[in-house]
Amino acid sequence: MNNKYYITTPIYYVNDKPHIGHAYTSIATDCIARFKRLEGFDVRFQTGTDEHGLKIQKAAEKNGVTPIELCDQNSQIFRDLTKTLNLSNNDFIRTTEDRHIDGAKYLWDRLYDRGHIYLGEYEGWYSVSDETFYNEKDLVKSGDGTFKTITNGTVDWISEKSYFFKLSEWGDKLLDLYNNDKDFISPVSKRNEVIKFVESGLNDLSVSRTSFKWGIQTPTDNKHIMYVWLDALTCYANGVNYLNNEEKNISDYWDNVTHIVGKDILRHHAVYWPAFLMAADLRLPKKIYAHGWWTNEGQKISKSLGNAIDPIDIINEFGLDQFRYFVLREVPFGNDGDFSKFALINRINSDLVNDLGNLCQRSLTMIEKKLNSIIPEIKSEVSNNKLISMYVNIINDGSLLVDSHKLHEYIKLVWSYVNEVNKFFNDNKPWELFDKDMDKFSDTLAVTAESIKKIAFLINPIMPDTSNKILTMLGVRIENFSFEQEELTLIGGNNLGEINHLFSRIDHDN
Ligand code: MSP
Repeated sequence: MNNKYYITTPIYYVNDKPHIGHAYTSIATDCIARFKRLEGFDVRFQTGTDEHGLKIQKAAEKNGVTPIELCDQNSQIFRDLTKTLNLSNNDFIRTTEDRHIDGAKYLWDRLYDRGHIYLGEYEGWYSVSDETFYNEKDLVKSGDGTFKTITNGTVDWISEKSYFFKLSEWGDKLLDLYNNDKDFISPVSKRNEVIKFVESGLNDLSVSRTSFKWGIQTPTDNKHIMYVWLDALTCYANGVNYLNNEEKNISDYWDNVTHIVGKDILRHHAVYWPAFLMAADLRLPKKIYAHGWWTNEGQKISKSLGNAIDPIDIINEFGLDQFRYFVLREVPFGNDGDFSKFALINRINSDLVNDLGNLCQRSLTMIEKKLNSIIPEIKSEVSNNKLISMYVNIINDGSLLVDSHKLHEYIKLVWSYVNEVNKFFNDNKPWELFDKDMDKFSDTLAVTAESIKKIAFLINPIMPDTSNKILTMLGVRIENFSFEQEELTLIGGNNLGEINHLFSRIDHDN
Protein backbone atom coordinates (compact mmCIF):
# COMPACT_ATOMS: atom_id res chain seq x y z
CA MET A 1 0.00 0.00 0.00
CA ASN A 2 1.26 3.48 -0.83
CA ASN A 3 1.09 5.33 2.46
CA LYS A 4 2.81 8.40 1.12
CA TYR A 5 1.09 11.70 1.72
CA TYR A 6 2.34 14.97 0.29
CA ILE A 7 0.98 18.36 1.30
CA THR A 8 2.02 21.83 0.21
CA THR A 9 1.54 25.47 1.11
CA PRO A 10 1.64 28.05 -1.66
CA ILE A 11 5.08 29.53 -2.12
CA TYR A 12 5.13 33.05 -0.75
CA TYR A 13 6.03 36.23 -2.62
CA VAL A 14 9.19 37.77 -1.25
CA ASN A 15 8.37 41.39 -2.05
CA ASP A 16 7.31 42.01 1.54
CA LYS A 17 7.57 40.50 5.00
CA PRO A 18 5.19 37.75 6.18
CA HIS A 19 1.77 38.58 7.61
CA ILE A 20 -1.02 36.63 9.24
CA GLY A 21 -2.27 35.25 5.90
CA HIS A 22 1.04 33.47 5.26
CA ALA A 23 1.22 32.23 8.83
CA TYR A 24 -2.33 30.92 8.63
CA THR A 25 -1.85 28.89 5.46
CA SER A 26 1.34 27.45 6.90
CA ILE A 27 -0.08 26.58 10.33
CA ALA A 28 -3.14 24.88 8.86
CA THR A 29 -0.99 22.86 6.48
CA ASP A 30 1.32 21.92 9.33
CA CYS A 31 -1.64 20.79 11.41
CA ILE A 32 -2.81 18.45 8.64
CA ALA A 33 0.73 17.16 8.03
CA ARG A 34 1.18 16.37 11.71
CA PHE A 35 -2.19 14.66 11.94
CA LYS A 36 -1.39 12.44 8.95
CA ARG A 37 1.91 11.50 10.62
CA LEU A 38 -0.04 10.58 13.76
CA GLU A 39 -2.08 8.26 11.57
CA GLY A 40 1.08 6.59 10.34
CA PHE A 41 1.41 8.15 6.88
CA ASP A 42 4.81 8.83 5.39
CA VAL A 43 4.27 12.57 5.11
CA ARG A 44 6.14 15.10 3.06
CA PHE A 45 5.33 18.75 3.68
CA GLN A 46 6.69 21.47 1.42
CA THR A 47 6.67 25.23 1.62
CA GLY A 48 8.89 27.91 0.08
CA THR A 49 9.16 31.22 -1.72
CA ASP A 50 8.02 32.59 -5.08
CA GLU A 51 10.77 34.87 -6.31
CA HIS A 52 10.32 35.84 -9.96
CA GLY A 53 8.13 38.34 -11.78
CA LEU A 54 7.49 42.04 -12.09
CA LYS A 55 6.25 42.42 -8.53
CA ILE A 56 9.59 41.27 -7.14
CA GLN A 57 11.59 43.23 -9.70
CA LYS A 58 9.71 46.41 -8.75
CA ALA A 59 10.14 45.78 -5.01
CA ALA A 60 13.89 45.34 -5.55
CA GLU A 61 14.08 48.59 -7.52
CA LYS A 62 12.20 50.38 -4.78
CA ASN A 63 14.64 49.05 -2.17
CA GLY A 64 17.69 49.90 -4.28
CA VAL A 65 18.91 46.29 -4.44
CA THR A 66 19.11 43.69 -7.19
CA PRO A 67 16.21 41.22 -7.41
CA ILE A 68 18.33 38.31 -6.22
CA GLU A 69 19.58 40.34 -3.24
CA LEU A 70 16.00 41.07 -2.26
CA CYS A 71 15.05 37.42 -2.73
CA ASP A 72 17.96 36.11 -0.65
CA GLN A 73 17.16 38.50 2.15
CA ASN A 74 13.38 38.00 2.24
CA SER A 75 13.33 34.30 1.48
CA GLN A 76 15.43 33.87 4.63
CA ILE A 77 12.76 35.72 6.61
CA PHE A 78 10.15 33.22 5.41
CA ARG A 79 12.50 30.35 6.18
CA ASP A 80 13.01 31.72 9.69
CA LEU A 81 9.24 31.94 10.07
CA THR A 82 8.96 28.17 9.56
CA LYS A 83 10.99 27.80 12.78
CA THR A 84 9.06 30.50 14.63
CA LEU A 85 5.78 28.78 13.74
CA ASN A 86 7.23 25.36 14.59
CA LEU A 87 6.37 23.98 11.16
CA SER A 88 7.27 20.38 10.46
CA ASN A 89 8.08 20.98 6.78
CA ASN A 90 10.49 18.59 5.09
CA ASP A 91 11.47 21.00 2.36
CA PHE A 92 11.65 24.70 1.60
CA ILE A 93 11.89 25.39 -2.10
CA ARG A 94 12.91 28.64 -3.77
CA THR A 95 12.02 29.36 -7.38
CA THR A 96 15.53 30.72 -7.94
CA GLU A 97 17.08 27.31 -7.23
CA ASP A 98 18.35 25.22 -10.16
CA ARG A 99 16.18 22.25 -9.26
CA HIS A 100 13.13 24.48 -9.69
CA ILE A 101 14.28 26.27 -12.82
CA ASP A 102 15.04 22.90 -14.50
CA GLY A 103 11.55 21.63 -13.70
CA ALA A 104 9.81 24.77 -14.96
CA LYS A 105 11.74 24.57 -18.25
CA TYR A 106 10.96 20.89 -18.58
CA LEU A 107 7.22 21.60 -18.31
CA TRP A 108 7.54 24.40 -20.88
CA ASP A 109 9.31 22.06 -23.31
CA ARG A 110 6.66 19.40 -22.92
CA LEU A 111 3.88 21.90 -23.57
CA TYR A 112 5.74 23.42 -26.51
CA ASP A 113 6.64 20.06 -28.09
CA ARG A 114 3.04 18.91 -27.88
CA GLY A 115 1.84 22.06 -29.67
CA HIS A 116 0.02 23.67 -26.76
CA ILE A 117 1.95 26.95 -26.91
CA TYR A 118 1.90 29.51 -29.74
CA LEU A 119 3.28 33.02 -30.27
CA GLY A 120 0.91 35.99 -30.25
CA GLU A 121 0.42 39.41 -28.74
CA TYR A 122 -1.19 40.08 -25.38
CA GLU A 123 -3.27 43.17 -25.07
CA GLY A 124 -5.26 43.59 -21.88
CA TRP A 125 -5.29 44.20 -18.17
CA TYR A 126 -2.67 42.93 -15.74
CA SER A 127 -2.42 43.21 -11.97
CA VAL A 128 1.17 43.28 -10.77
CA SER A 129 0.21 42.64 -7.14
CA ASP A 130 -1.70 39.44 -8.08
CA GLU A 131 0.55 38.71 -11.10
CA THR A 132 -2.69 37.93 -12.90
CA PHE A 133 -4.27 38.78 -16.27
CA TYR A 134 -7.85 40.05 -16.05
CA ASN A 135 -10.78 40.24 -18.44
CA GLU A 136 -12.46 43.61 -18.26
CA LYS A 137 -15.74 41.95 -17.26
CA ASP A 138 -14.07 40.63 -14.10
CA LEU A 139 -12.93 44.10 -13.01
CA VAL A 140 -14.80 46.87 -11.21
CA LYS A 141 -15.05 50.33 -12.77
CA SER A 142 -14.51 53.07 -10.18
CA GLY A 143 -16.10 56.52 -10.20
CA ASP A 144 -13.09 58.08 -11.92
CA GLY A 145 -13.32 55.59 -14.78
CA THR A 146 -10.31 53.47 -13.76
CA PHE A 147 -10.56 49.73 -13.37
CA LYS A 148 -9.78 47.85 -10.15
CA THR A 149 -9.73 44.17 -9.20
CA ILE A 150 -12.45 43.01 -6.80
CA THR A 151 -9.91 43.26 -3.99
CA ASN A 152 -9.36 46.91 -4.97
CA GLY A 153 -5.98 46.25 -6.60
CA THR A 154 -4.79 48.41 -9.48
CA VAL A 155 -4.44 47.02 -12.99
CA ASP A 156 -2.28 48.17 -15.90
CA TRP A 157 -3.04 47.92 -19.58
CA ILE A 158 -0.27 45.98 -21.25
CA SER A 159 0.47 45.23 -24.85
CA GLU A 160 3.41 43.01 -25.74
CA LYS A 161 4.53 39.94 -27.66
CA SER A 162 3.70 36.84 -25.71
CA TYR A 163 3.40 33.11 -25.99
CA PHE A 164 -0.04 31.70 -25.21
CA PHE A 165 -1.10 28.41 -23.74
CA LYS A 166 -4.20 26.99 -25.44
CA LEU A 167 -6.25 27.02 -22.26
CA SER A 168 -9.47 27.47 -24.26
CA GLU A 169 -9.17 23.84 -25.41
CA TRP A 170 -9.23 22.44 -21.87
CA GLY A 171 -12.62 23.56 -20.56
CA ASP A 172 -14.44 20.25 -21.12
CA LYS A 173 -11.58 18.16 -19.77
CA LEU A 174 -11.42 20.32 -16.66
CA LEU A 175 -15.17 20.03 -16.12
CA ASP A 176 -14.89 16.24 -16.51
CA LEU A 177 -12.13 16.25 -13.94
CA TYR A 178 -14.24 18.21 -11.42
CA ASN A 179 -17.27 15.99 -12.05
CA ASN A 180 -15.44 12.69 -11.90
CA ASP A 181 -13.71 13.57 -8.66
CA LYS A 182 -15.99 15.60 -6.45
CA ASP A 183 -13.19 16.01 -3.89
CA PHE A 184 -10.69 17.46 -6.32
CA ILE A 185 -11.65 20.99 -5.28
CA SER A 186 -13.11 21.86 -1.92
CA PRO A 187 -14.91 23.33 -0.06
CA VAL A 188 -18.03 22.92 -2.20
CA SER A 189 -18.79 26.65 -2.40
CA LYS A 190 -15.36 27.31 -3.88
CA ARG A 191 -15.65 24.29 -6.19
CA ASN A 192 -18.89 25.72 -7.58
CA GLU A 193 -17.21 29.05 -8.27
CA VAL A 194 -14.46 27.34 -10.24
CA ILE A 195 -16.99 25.31 -12.22
CA LYS A 196 -18.93 28.47 -13.06
CA PHE A 197 -15.74 30.19 -14.17
CA VAL A 198 -14.76 27.32 -16.46
CA GLU A 199 -18.30 26.93 -17.81
CA SER A 200 -18.34 30.60 -18.77
CA GLY A 201 -15.58 29.81 -21.30
CA LEU A 202 -11.80 29.96 -21.03
CA ASN A 203 -9.50 32.24 -23.00
CA ASP A 204 -6.02 31.21 -24.00
CA LEU A 205 -3.56 32.22 -21.32
CA SER A 206 -0.56 34.45 -21.85
CA VAL A 207 2.40 32.48 -20.49
CA SER A 208 5.40 34.65 -21.27
CA ARG A 209 6.48 38.26 -20.87
CA THR A 210 8.94 40.40 -22.82
CA SER A 211 8.81 43.82 -21.15
CA PHE A 212 11.05 42.96 -18.18
CA LYS A 213 13.77 40.47 -17.36
CA TRP A 214 13.36 38.99 -13.86
CA GLY A 215 12.22 35.45 -14.50
CA ILE A 216 13.07 32.13 -16.12
CA GLN A 217 13.96 32.40 -19.79
CA THR A 218 11.74 30.20 -21.93
CA PRO A 219 13.89 27.37 -23.33
CA THR A 220 12.47 27.89 -26.81
CA ASP A 221 12.94 31.67 -27.16
CA ASN A 222 15.44 33.68 -25.12
CA LYS A 223 13.57 36.96 -25.60
CA HIS A 224 10.74 35.71 -23.39
CA ILE A 225 10.57 34.92 -19.72
CA MET A 226 7.96 32.55 -18.37
CA TYR A 227 4.78 33.93 -16.84
CA VAL A 228 5.49 33.78 -13.11
CA TRP A 229 2.53 31.51 -12.33
CA LEU A 230 3.58 28.87 -14.87
CA ASP A 231 7.03 29.04 -13.29
CA ALA A 232 5.78 29.01 -9.67
CA LEU A 233 3.21 26.20 -9.91
CA THR A 234 5.87 23.72 -10.97
CA CYS A 235 7.52 24.08 -7.53
CA TYR A 236 5.19 21.44 -6.12
CA ALA A 237 6.40 18.83 -8.59
CA ASN A 238 10.03 20.01 -8.47
CA GLY A 239 10.19 19.48 -4.71
CA VAL A 240 9.72 15.75 -5.29
CA ASN A 241 11.79 15.74 -8.50
CA TYR A 242 8.76 14.80 -10.55
CA LEU A 243 9.64 17.15 -13.40
CA ASN A 244 13.29 17.95 -12.97
CA ASN A 245 15.19 14.81 -12.17
CA GLU A 246 13.80 11.43 -13.13
CA GLU A 247 16.63 9.55 -11.48
CA LYS A 248 16.10 11.08 -8.09
CA ASN A 249 12.35 11.00 -8.54
CA ILE A 250 10.49 10.57 -5.30
CA SER A 251 7.31 10.64 -7.29
CA ASP A 252 5.39 8.24 -5.08
CA TYR A 253 4.59 11.38 -3.17
CA TRP A 254 3.21 12.86 -6.35
CA ASP A 255 0.48 10.19 -6.37
CA ASN A 256 -1.06 11.69 -3.27
CA VAL A 257 -0.59 15.43 -3.16
CA THR A 258 -2.87 18.01 -1.56
CA HIS A 259 -2.40 21.72 -2.24
CA ILE A 260 -3.62 24.08 0.48
CA VAL A 261 -4.19 27.57 -0.92
CA GLY A 262 -6.03 30.79 -0.09
CA LYS A 263 -9.26 31.45 -1.98
CA ASP A 264 -7.62 34.23 -4.02
CA ILE A 265 -5.31 31.81 -5.78
CA LEU A 266 -7.71 28.92 -6.31
CA ARG A 267 -8.18 29.65 -10.00
CA HIS A 268 -4.47 29.35 -10.67
CA HIS A 269 -4.35 26.00 -8.84
CA ALA A 270 -7.64 24.45 -9.90
CA VAL A 271 -7.78 25.65 -13.53
CA TYR A 272 -4.35 26.59 -14.87
CA TRP A 273 -2.28 23.97 -13.04
CA PRO A 274 -4.31 20.87 -13.96
CA ALA A 275 -4.68 22.17 -17.53
CA PHE A 276 -0.88 22.52 -17.85
CA LEU A 277 -0.35 19.05 -16.41
CA MET A 278 -3.00 17.38 -18.58
CA ALA A 279 -1.65 19.08 -21.70
CA ALA A 280 1.88 17.92 -20.82
CA ASP A 281 0.64 14.33 -20.21
CA LEU A 282 1.59 14.48 -16.55
CA ARG A 283 -0.18 13.26 -13.42
CA LEU A 284 -2.48 15.55 -11.46
CA PRO A 285 -2.61 16.47 -7.79
CA LYS A 286 -5.28 14.72 -5.70
CA LYS A 287 -6.88 17.61 -3.88
CA ILE A 288 -6.93 21.35 -3.87
CA TYR A 289 -8.33 23.05 -0.82
CA ALA A 290 -9.08 26.78 -0.59
CA HIS A 291 -9.26 28.51 2.77
CA GLY A 292 -10.76 31.91 3.56
CA TRP A 293 -9.24 35.25 4.43
CA TRP A 294 -8.66 37.02 7.71
CA THR A 295 -9.72 40.57 8.39
CA ASN A 296 -8.10 42.62 11.18
CA GLU A 297 -10.55 43.81 13.84
CA GLY A 298 -13.29 43.87 11.19
CA GLN A 299 -11.21 45.60 8.51
CA LYS A 300 -9.89 44.14 5.30
CA ILE A 301 -6.12 43.75 5.55
CA SER A 302 -4.41 45.87 2.93
CA LYS A 303 -1.14 47.59 2.24
CA SER A 304 -2.81 50.97 1.85
CA LEU A 305 -4.45 50.69 5.29
CA GLY A 306 -1.14 49.50 6.75
CA ASN A 307 -3.03 47.08 9.01
CA ALA A 308 -1.24 43.83 8.22
CA ILE A 309 -0.87 41.67 11.33
CA ASP A 310 2.68 40.59 12.00
CA PRO A 311 2.45 37.02 13.31
CA ILE A 312 5.71 37.49 15.21
CA ASP A 313 4.24 40.37 17.26
CA ILE A 314 1.24 38.23 18.21
CA ILE A 315 3.44 35.27 19.10
CA ASN A 316 5.72 37.46 21.23
CA GLU A 317 2.74 38.87 23.07
CA PHE A 318 0.56 35.78 23.47
CA GLY A 319 2.68 32.71 22.73
CA LEU A 320 3.03 30.44 19.71
CA ASP A 321 0.65 27.66 20.67
CA GLN A 322 -1.94 30.19 21.79
CA PHE A 323 -1.74 31.74 18.31
CA ARG A 324 -1.83 28.38 16.52
CA TYR A 325 -4.79 27.26 18.59
CA PHE A 326 -6.69 30.48 18.00
CA VAL A 327 -6.37 30.62 14.21
CA LEU A 328 -7.30 26.97 13.83
CA ARG A 329 -10.17 26.96 16.33
CA GLU A 330 -11.76 30.37 15.90
CA VAL A 331 -12.85 30.17 12.27
CA PRO A 332 -14.16 27.19 10.31
CA PHE A 333 -11.36 26.35 7.88
CA GLY A 334 -12.61 27.46 4.47
CA ASN A 335 -14.53 30.49 5.79
CA ASP A 336 -13.37 34.06 6.18
CA GLY A 337 -12.68 35.17 9.73
CA ASP A 338 -11.90 38.17 11.83
CA PHE A 339 -8.78 38.50 13.93
CA SER A 340 -9.29 40.41 17.17
CA LYS A 341 -7.21 40.44 20.33
CA PHE A 342 -10.43 40.31 22.35
CA ALA A 343 -11.43 36.98 20.75
CA LEU A 344 -7.88 35.65 21.09
CA ILE A 345 -7.76 36.46 24.81
CA ASN A 346 -11.16 34.82 25.35
CA ARG A 347 -10.01 31.62 23.68
CA ILE A 348 -6.80 31.56 25.69
CA ASN A 349 -8.57 32.08 29.01
CA SER A 350 -11.46 29.72 28.47
CA ASP A 351 -10.16 26.85 26.35
CA LEU A 352 -6.48 26.83 27.20
CA VAL A 353 -6.20 28.12 30.76
CA ASN A 354 -9.50 26.88 32.21
CA ASP A 355 -10.13 23.66 30.32
CA LEU A 356 -6.71 22.25 29.52
CA GLY A 357 -4.18 24.02 31.75
CA ASN A 358 -6.18 23.65 34.96
CA LEU A 359 -6.91 19.98 34.33
CA CYS A 360 -3.20 19.21 34.04
CA GLN A 361 -2.24 21.45 36.93
CA ARG A 362 -4.84 20.18 39.39
CA SER A 363 -4.49 16.48 38.73
CA LEU A 364 -0.73 16.30 38.30
CA THR A 365 0.08 18.39 41.40
CA MET A 366 -2.15 16.01 43.35
CA ILE A 367 -0.02 13.10 42.15
CA GLU A 368 3.08 15.12 43.01
CA LYS A 369 1.94 16.01 46.53
CA LYS A 370 -0.01 12.95 47.62
CA LEU A 371 1.62 10.13 45.68
CA ASN A 372 5.19 11.23 45.82
CA SER A 373 5.15 12.07 42.08
CA ILE A 374 4.57 8.45 41.04
CA ILE A 375 1.78 8.06 38.47
CA PRO A 376 -0.47 5.21 39.65
CA GLU A 377 -1.33 2.20 37.46
CA ILE A 378 -4.91 1.87 36.22
CA LYS A 379 -6.80 -0.92 38.05
CA SER A 380 -8.94 -2.47 35.36
CA GLU A 381 -11.92 -3.16 37.63
CA VAL A 382 -12.49 0.47 38.44
CA SER A 383 -11.12 2.10 35.31
CA ASN A 384 -13.23 4.41 33.19
CA ASN A 385 -14.05 2.72 29.90
CA LYS A 386 -16.08 5.63 28.65
CA LEU A 387 -13.01 7.81 28.31
CA ILE A 388 -11.12 5.06 26.50
CA SER A 389 -13.89 4.40 23.99
CA MET A 390 -14.42 8.11 23.47
CA TYR A 391 -10.73 8.46 22.59
CA VAL A 392 -10.94 5.71 19.98
CA ASN A 393 -13.97 7.38 18.42
CA ILE A 394 -12.16 10.70 18.30
CA ILE A 395 -9.31 9.17 16.34
CA ASN A 396 -11.74 7.63 13.85
CA ASP A 397 -14.01 10.65 13.50
CA GLY A 398 -11.04 13.01 13.66
CA SER A 399 -9.49 11.26 10.69
CA LEU A 400 -12.56 11.94 8.56
CA LEU A 401 -12.72 15.54 9.73
CA VAL A 402 -9.08 16.25 8.98
CA ASP A 403 -9.34 14.53 5.59
CA SER A 404 -12.19 16.87 4.76
CA HIS A 405 -10.15 19.77 6.20
CA LYS A 406 -12.62 20.54 8.98
CA LEU A 407 -9.85 21.44 11.37
CA HIS A 408 -12.03 23.51 13.72
CA GLU A 409 -14.42 20.53 14.02
CA TYR A 410 -11.52 18.29 14.91
CA ILE A 411 -10.48 20.68 17.67
CA LYS A 412 -14.05 20.85 18.97
CA LEU A 413 -14.09 17.09 19.13
CA VAL A 414 -10.81 17.01 21.05
CA TRP A 415 -12.21 19.60 23.44
CA SER A 416 -15.29 17.47 24.06
CA TYR A 417 -12.80 14.88 25.32
CA VAL A 418 -10.92 17.45 27.44
CA ASN A 419 -14.26 18.42 28.99
CA GLU A 420 -15.22 14.80 29.62
CA VAL A 421 -11.91 14.23 31.42
CA ASN A 422 -12.53 17.36 33.50
CA LYS A 423 -15.99 16.02 34.34
CA PHE A 424 -14.59 12.65 35.32
CA PHE A 425 -12.05 14.30 37.60
CA ASN A 426 -14.59 16.68 39.18
CA ASP A 427 -17.31 14.02 39.60
CA ASN A 428 -14.93 11.68 41.40
CA LYS A 429 -13.71 14.45 43.73
CA PRO A 430 -10.31 12.86 44.43
CA TRP A 431 -9.55 15.64 46.96
CA GLU A 432 -12.24 14.06 49.19
CA LEU A 433 -11.02 10.49 48.66
CA PHE A 434 -7.50 10.69 50.01
CA ASP A 435 -7.20 8.57 53.20
CA LYS A 436 -10.84 7.47 52.80
CA ASP A 437 -10.84 5.38 49.64
CA MET A 438 -7.27 5.08 48.44
CA ASP A 439 -8.12 2.66 45.62
CA LYS A 440 -10.59 5.05 44.10
CA PHE A 441 -8.28 7.96 44.79
CA SER A 442 -5.35 6.52 42.91
CA ASP A 443 -7.52 5.07 40.15
CA THR A 444 -9.11 8.47 39.53
CA LEU A 445 -5.65 10.00 39.19
CA ALA A 446 -4.38 7.09 37.08
CA VAL A 447 -7.27 7.40 34.62
CA THR A 448 -6.94 11.17 34.54
CA ALA A 449 -3.19 10.97 33.86
CA GLU A 450 -3.73 8.35 31.13
CA SER A 451 -6.38 10.60 29.53
CA ILE A 452 -4.05 13.60 29.72
CA LYS A 453 -1.45 11.56 27.87
CA LYS A 454 -4.05 10.85 25.19
CA ILE A 455 -4.89 14.55 25.03
CA ALA A 456 -1.19 15.29 24.46
CA PHE A 457 -1.33 13.11 21.33
CA LEU A 458 -4.65 14.53 20.14
CA ILE A 459 -3.44 18.14 20.42
CA ASN A 460 -0.04 17.43 18.91
CA PRO A 461 -1.03 18.64 15.41
CA ILE A 462 -2.49 21.83 16.85
CA MET A 463 -0.02 22.71 19.63
CA PRO A 464 3.12 20.59 19.27
CA ASP A 465 5.06 22.40 22.03
CA THR A 466 2.27 22.04 24.56
CA SER A 467 1.91 18.40 23.62
CA ASN A 468 5.61 17.89 24.38
CA LYS A 469 5.41 19.83 27.64
CA ILE A 470 2.55 17.66 28.87
CA LEU A 471 4.40 14.48 28.06
CA THR A 472 7.53 15.77 29.78
CA MET A 473 5.43 16.39 32.89
CA LEU A 474 4.22 12.78 32.58
CA GLY A 475 7.82 11.65 32.51
CA VAL A 476 8.01 10.63 28.84
CA ARG A 477 9.73 12.00 25.80
CA ILE A 478 8.38 11.15 22.34
CA GLU A 479 10.35 11.64 19.14
CA ASN A 480 7.91 10.36 16.55
CA PHE A 481 4.31 11.01 17.32
CA SER A 482 1.82 8.42 16.10
CA PHE A 483 -1.36 6.95 17.47
CA GLU A 484 0.47 3.63 17.52
CA GLN A 485 3.17 5.21 19.68
CA GLU A 486 0.48 6.46 22.06
CA GLU A 487 -0.59 2.88 22.79
CA LEU A 488 3.01 1.87 23.45
CA THR A 489 3.67 4.75 25.80
CA LEU A 490 2.94 3.44 29.27
CA ILE A 491 2.93 5.98 32.06
CA GLY A 492 1.71 3.98 35.10
CA GLY A 493 4.65 3.84 37.54
CA ASN A 494 6.41 6.82 35.91
CA ASN A 495 7.99 9.55 37.94
CA LEU A 496 6.45 12.90 37.09
CA GLY A 497 8.67 15.59 35.66
CA GLU A 498 8.49 19.16 36.90
CA ILE A 499 4.91 20.48 36.90
CA ASN A 500 4.65 23.84 35.17
CA HIS A 501 1.75 26.05 34.18
CA LEU A 502 0.96 25.47 30.52
CA PHE A 503 -0.80 28.79 29.89
CA SER A 504 -1.21 32.09 31.73
CA ARG A 505 -4.49 33.91 32.08
CA ILE A 506 -4.56 37.25 30.28
CA ASP A 507 -6.47 40.38 31.32
CA HIS A 508 -8.57 42.06 28.67
CA ASP A 509 -7.18 45.48 29.46
CA ASN A 510 -3.67 44.16 28.99
N1 MSP B 1 3.11 33.43 -4.73
C1 MSP B 1 1.72 33.17 -4.78
C2 MSP B 1 1.44 31.69 -4.63
C3 MSP B 1 2.11 30.81 -5.63
S1 MSP B 1 1.83 29.13 -5.33
C4 MSP B 1 2.47 28.34 -6.64
C5 MSP B 1 1.00 33.94 -3.68
N2 MSP B 1 1.74 34.35 -2.66
S2 MSP B 1 1.24 35.28 -1.46
O1 MSP B 1 2.41 35.48 -0.66
O2 MSP B 1 0.62 36.45 -1.96
O3 MSP B 1 0.11 34.54 -0.69
C6 MSP B 1 0.28 33.33 -0.10
C7 MSP B 1 -0.92 32.87 0.66
O4 MSP B 1 -1.30 33.80 1.69
C8 MSP B 1 -2.15 32.65 -0.20
O5 MSP B 1 -2.67 31.36 0.07
C9 MSP B 1 -3.11 33.72 0.27
O6 MSP B 1 -4.42 33.32 0.17
C10 MSP B 1 -2.70 33.87 1.71
N3 MSP B 1 -3.21 35.12 2.26
C11 MSP B 1 -2.80 36.38 1.95
N4 MSP B 1 -3.55 37.26 2.69
C12 MSP B 1 -4.45 36.60 3.45
C13 MSP B 1 -5.35 36.93 4.48
N5 MSP B 1 -5.61 38.20 4.82
N6 MSP B 1 -5.96 35.91 5.15
C14 MSP B 1 -5.67 34.60 4.90
N7 MSP B 1 -4.82 34.25 3.96
C15 MSP B 1 -4.37 35.21 3.05
O7 MSP B 1 -0.19 34.15 -3.77
